[in-house]
Amino acid sequence: MDRATFVPIMAITEEAILGALSRVIEPDLKKDIVELDLVRDVTVDENTVHVHVEVSNPALHSRKRMEEAVVFNLQQALGKSVTIRVNVTPLSGERGNLRKVLPHVKHIVAVASGKGGVGKSTITANLAVGLARMGWKVGLVDADVHGPSMPMMFDAMHERPTTIEKDGKRWIVPVESHGVKLLSIGFFADPSQAIAWRGPMASKALEQLFKDADWGELDIMLVDLPPGTSDIHLSLVQVVPLTGAIVVSTPQPVALADARKGVGFFQLPSVNVPVLGIVENMAWFTPAELPGNKYYIFGQGGARVLAQELKVPLLGEIPLVQSIREAGDVGRPAVMQDASTVSTAFNELCTALQHRLAVVTAASAEPSHA
Ligand SMILES: Nc1ncnc2c1ncn2[C@@H]1O[C@H](COP(=O)(O)OP(=O)(O)OP(=O)(O)O)[C@@H](O)[C@H]1O
Ligand SMILES: [Mg+2]
Repeated sequence: MDRATFVPIMAITEEAILGALSRVIEPDLKKDIVELDLVRDVTVDENTVHVHVEVSNPALHSRKRMEEAVVFNLQQALGKSVTIRVNVTPLSGERGNLRKVLPHVKHIVAVASGKGGVGKSTITANLAVGLARMGWKVGLVDADVHGPSMPMMFDAMHERPTTIEKDGKRWIVPVESHGVKLLSIGFFADPSQAIAWRGPMASKALEQLFKDADWGELDIMLVDLPPGTSDIHLSLVQVVPLTGAIVVSTPQPVALADARKGVGFFQLPSVNVPVLGIVENMAWFTPAELPGNKYYIFGQGGARVLAQELKVPLLGEIPLVQSIREAGDVGRPAVMQDASTVSTAFNELCTALQHRLAVVTAASAEPSHA
């Protein structure tokens, strides 16, 4: 028998516990949780240590991550035979202001896909405008450094964000279009010089769109990502407290295989961002002259099967309709059409997302226990 697993390496003293906890770094605030005074309570009951820790990002995944870090560091210091019970709660009261990155944004949702061209940007633009029309305060960050689409989809190609001076700092003021606050990397670069936004420079530029802009209070901030999983995705999950991600796919097997990889990326232990659901775009083709007809030109029901298999919700199905493309090209998202099949599909998607966010937020308001 391996004695080391049964005998604590160190006595369970307050000093040993705080020593171990001082190795846990709060991801948003970038300091250890003891220094930040986030350890609310420690009690020892025979061989069990109970710890109550506060965390800046209230999302479930961030609380889970904190719980894992606390258990890992305490067991490293005290031995695996010690039982650790962790209660992680969001920063309370005044202390809630400690959360520095976008503290006044309720939900931050990334829109991703495995395959390119499946309609991420179209879905993001329509979600943004649809939610704004439902009364939500909406922000949108176009994080596609290689092919920013939002300036065109919002008829804001010639807009340039201004800056304001506030609290001794210069802030970027997002452009407003169709009731949505918008920033795109495309506003800051000459399209012919897209090459300039590669590697760490692109990540840094993107970070500024979140941290150096005056977003104010928002119900939701949507982030339109480039296809696949790149450095941009990694820096996004490190820099921004994401509530969750949406993965867009078409019904084609190649797109579904890539969507599976997209979901897999967010579920990696090192990423650990909740997948809010899959959206099937171009689910069927409906010609304008036969609005009741559905032609399953890319296959039928593939995203539903994938969602069931991966145990994530299918948030919505959007048809392939010419007016969606036309609306995108003229900068007036299709959700603005009066009661058409297309605007109905996008509005249903908006409602599904609102419900899903309510569920995820309610889950993260529960105390989490080891
Ligand atoms: N449901 C739809 N019906 C008709 N056209 C669509 C639909 N969804 C997207 N499109 C069109 O398909 C093209 C690609 O869509 P979009 O740019 O949204 O994809 P994307 O996934 O963001 O692409 P990328 O990977 O390059 O960022 C656009 O011209 C868009 O207008
Ligand atoms: Mg796009």
